[in-house]
Amino acid sequence: MQTKQIAIFASGNGSNALNIIDFFSENDQINVALLLSNNPNAPIIAKAKARGIDTLILTNEAVANSNLLIAACVNHAIDFVVLAGYLRKIPVEFIHFYANKIINIHPSLLPKFGGRGMYGDFVHKAVIEQKESKTGITIHFVNEEFDKGEVIAQFELKVDQLDDLDTLRKKISELEMKHFPTIIEEVILNTK
Ligand code: GRF
Repeated sequence: MQTKQIAIFASGNGSNALNIIDFFSENDQINVALLLSNNPNAPIIAKAKARGIDTLILTNEAVANSNLLIAACVNHAIDFVVLAGYLRKIPVEFIHFYANKIINIHPSLLPKFGGRGMYGDFVHKAVIEQKESKTGITIHFVNEEFDKGEVIAQFELKVDQLDDLDTLRKKISELEMKHFPTIIEEVILNTK
């Protein structure tokens, strides 16, 4: 199999992006070829550069432009796009161009706690406030509707009565670190 090239889109801290980069660093079949960010201050940019990954920082205006995004990815021969804490909407033509090749992670059991404005701590706070007994992560394909693409995998965890924002954030992060790279690998290796 020809090596598949991944682009990771990330806006912030990038713990998932970094985990994915490290997971595939010795992999012959899958290579992280590009880290794209809309946030020039995202800590992940320097970390990706330090690992020899090409980085591209685009303005919010530029990432709303499908042609620009497609050109950036085609230039890097990208086969799959992974959204890892990427907070901008993906333009529709880009979604069509990479149909079923864009994978997102969301820190709840979708369709619960999804949709616009539901990200990061907003999700965990809502889970605690609504006294959910369980939560988890959803890995899904991206379609035109926010957090509504086909679910690839979900992983659950128990919410304890004593859980607060910090403990829940940590538990979710651990689940993401454990499963996101392996699910990405499965999807890529199983796509013809
Ligand atoms: C993660 O919780 C992920 O599920 C969500 O955004 C967060 C990103 O965190 N989409 P990080 O930037 O990977 O640390």
